[in-house]
Amino acid sequence: MRDLATNLHTAFAEALQTPATYPSGADHDAMVKQSVDRLAQLSDSARRHVDIGPYPDALTRYGADLLAQIIKTPLAGLIKDLWPELHWYEIFSDASISETLSKGLITAPIAGSRGQLVSEKILSGIFLLAPHIHYPLHQHPALEIYYVLSGEVNICHGRDKSPMHIRAGDFSLTPPDQVHSLTTGDSPCLIIYTWTGDLANENWWWVKEDDVWIRKCWQREASGTWKVVHKEPLRDEIIALSGDG
Ligand SMILES: [Fe+2]
Repeated sequence: MRDLATNLHTAFAEALQTPATYPSGADHDAMVKQSVDRLAQLSDSARRHVDIGPYPDALTRYGADLLAQIIKTPLAGLIKDLWPELHWYEIFSDASISETLSKGLITAPIAGSRGQLVSEKILSGIFLLAPHIHYPLHQHPALEIYYVLSGEVNICHGRDKSPMHIRAGDFSLTPPDQVHSLTTGDSPCLIIYTWTGDLANENWWWVKEDDVWIRKCWQREASGTWKVVHKEPLRDEIIALSGDG
């Protein structure tokens, strides 16, 4: 069996040499270093077999085209090779979101609590967004990297910020607790992500209810799917931490 951990670390480190999209004031070099350092700690000695479940509809519909158009870089090549071994599922399942959104956001873990490479220090995997998806503003304590493998997407780092367009070969950095959203256009998008730092099991979505901003907390269940467990008003101190200025 080839050494997935080493190849993933090497290919990701190479991919992160390209220019990045990130909020002004964020420390680009520190964020890249943290992510690459965590990837370097992955090991194939902690590799396990993951059963492949039924394919989600979005994979059946968009997977082949996204794979055919995948960018020609070592990281994308690695994902292409790994593709038949990936277990995909819908990320968010809850009555409070539309079926378009719950069916249109799917993931396949590679490293972390559910991936082939067992780790408590990093989460990494593939993320597929269907066309015309808006993954609402959200924040989490982990530092996040998105590297686009195929297609294109807009990332926005705040309620009043202009979205930034990233396409295959580009990556974005999102600091811990920074609020951000993703939006696709007419095409689907395939991303590889990393979460490093504080991997707390929470993801806060910012939404407007009755014209008032609130945030709702999603937590990951044992199945990997996230569900809403709590809602609260969007307080000033939370906004101050979120980079939404
Ligand atoms: Fe995120």
